[in-house]
Amino acid sequence: MCGIVGYIGYNNTKEILLNGLEKLEYRGYDSAGIAMLDDNDINLFKVKGRIAALRQRVNDTAASTMGIGHTRWATHGAPSAENAHPHQSTSGRFVLVHNGVIENYQELKRDYLDGIAFGSETDTEVIVQLVDKNAEKYGDTAEAFRQTINLLKGSYAIGLIDKQDKETIYVAKNKSPLLVGLGDGFNVVTSDAMATLKETDQYLEIFDREVVLVNRNFVEVQKLDGTAVTRSPFTAQIDVSDTEKGTYPHFMLKEIDEQPFVMRRIIQEYQDEHDRLKLDQDIRSAMKTCDRVYIIAAGTSYHAGLAGKRLLEKMAGIPVEVHVASEFSYNTPLLSEKPLFVFISQSGETADSRSVLVKIKEMGHPALTITNVPGSTLSREADFTLHLHAGPEIAVASTKAYSAQIAVLAILAVDTARAKGFELDFDPLQELAIAANAMEVLTEQKETIEELVRDNLGTTRNAFFIGRGSDYFVCLEGALKLKEISYIQAEGFAGGELKHGTIALIEEGTPVIALATQENVNYAIRSNVQEVVARGANDIIFSMKGLERDTDAFVVPQVHELLAPLVSVVPMQLLAYYAALHRDCDVDKPRNLAKSVTVE
Ligand code: G6P
Repeated sequence: MCGIVGYIGYNNTKEILLNGLEKLEYRGYDSAGIAMLDDNDINLFKVKGRIAALRQRVNDTAASTMGIGHTRWATHGAPSAENAHPHQSTSGRFVLVHNGVIENYQELKRDYLDGIAFGSETDTEVIVQLVDKNAEKYGDTAEAFRQTINLLKGSYAIGLIDKQDKETIYVAKNKSPLLVGLGDGFNVVTSDAMATLKETDQYLEIFDREVVLVNRNFVEVQKLDGTAVTRSPFTAQIDVSDTEKGTYPHFMLKEIDEQPFVMRRIIQEYQDEHDRLKLDQDIRSAMKTCDRVYIIAAGTSYHAGLAGKRLLEKMAGIPVEVHVASEFSYNTPLLSEKPLFVFISQSGETADSRSVLVKIKEMGHPALTITNVPGSTLSREADFTLHLHAGPEIAVASTKAYSAQIAVLAILAVDTARAKGFELDFDPLQELAIAANAMEVLTEQKETIEELVRDNLGTTRNAFFIGRGSDYFVCLEGALKLKEISYIQAEGFAGGELKHGTIALIEEGTPVIALATQENVNYAIRSNVQEVVARGANDIIFSMKGLERDTDAFVVPQVHELLAPLVSVVPMQLLAYYAALHRDCDVDKPRNLAKSVTVE
């Protein structure tokens, strides 16, 4: 993954690069660097650690009007200043930043770069050394760049600076995201428009295997053979304030609190002027004519997919399979005759999901992407898109995108059911409005959850989450949230399954968080709780109003049973948040993770 920013213009290069990189830290934050060109030389600064450390390291160099920067999530070579980007060619003439993985870097090294002393363990350095070598051969940097790009196999978003050319940033892309932002007398390059929104809201898409020459006054898009391509810019529809924390201590808390508003925005966006559901006719007919839906996703989005399966099967009567993207691409199951693929992805950039999309498109199957980023790769390359309207999600741990995914899947399920002529006793817009109110009530109960954390998760080294039916799916998400940000080892289990082995791990005081929002399994899950309590577990039961018992730790407001995940997940998110806070963990940027994983 990693994040890239480039700037060519008139002033303030350092601040634009550093501010942009700060906004891109969600893409990786184990090391970082910037290179700026001044009248005489390239000034290169690289550190292990975050942009804050880089900021301290960058001194006030001579005024620079162009530069490139990078924040890294290590793939080849450990996080270190040497392995951080930008990488410089041995001659010192070129510097380059790269996001992606060069699959044939060892072959390229062997075939073209014998005898060159490498300064890092990265796949990236091969590119900059090759450009340098080709520049000598062709005597022209643009040609050298195109020739080099032509040799690369794998994924890449690249920014390159040539010390001998103060007028151009050389850019190329394949599979990894990259945009050129257009300004007046300046231009920027960025992995995500959000990072450079303060500079411009006009962006130019770059397609795979294109090369772009970015000058301060013009931008030239080319195919790999050098022929020019014309393309109109688009306006980035992001509100700058959505990308700031405001008065919140963490983005995660802000995003948890935003969930009721996101629900209301979804209601607005998916209803017409007569308060009826509004959905693209082509999506409706794709849903109606398919014989099976294959949901493909990763991480939190996979968990939303599980909840979506239940909604689609219960309401629209379509068989649904939910697959972890990284498994599907290498172990494709037998498919039905008329499958419809539904990709769920907050970022729309997850490489595991994209490789499935490429594969099923080759097979000729239709695809719908449900994403928070409409211009993203998964959105562009699928036949249809449903937008989550959640606003930028910055915290690495996903919260509001998860609930938005479930809400949009509920709308899709109801729309399909109606298209098939099914009578439903469920008004999705009204039920979502009720869920939004319930979420709002829950976000006001932070103190209670904080207390529960203090009393029950304070020093524990592990925790279990148990539930049945859709509660089980929320347990998987609750456990993922807790482990990713607080580092407490946590597992979500189907209530009846824990006793088939894992119950061996229950000791005196082990926290077992149980969800009880489903009437048909209320008795069964409470029996499962008794089984663990009998073995010393500390039970913490979250039930729904109407199903509660006196000893329950927390009761969520009542909503339609099919939408229970929308409300029961809120206390799970808050549990994780306060557990992480209690342990002094970096809530928004947990160790080893990145928000958008663009490598397989
Ligand atoms: C990363 C993030 C997770 C996210 C997953 C899928 O691993 O850390 O929070 O759920 O990617 O991301 P997507 O953007 O496809 O939903």
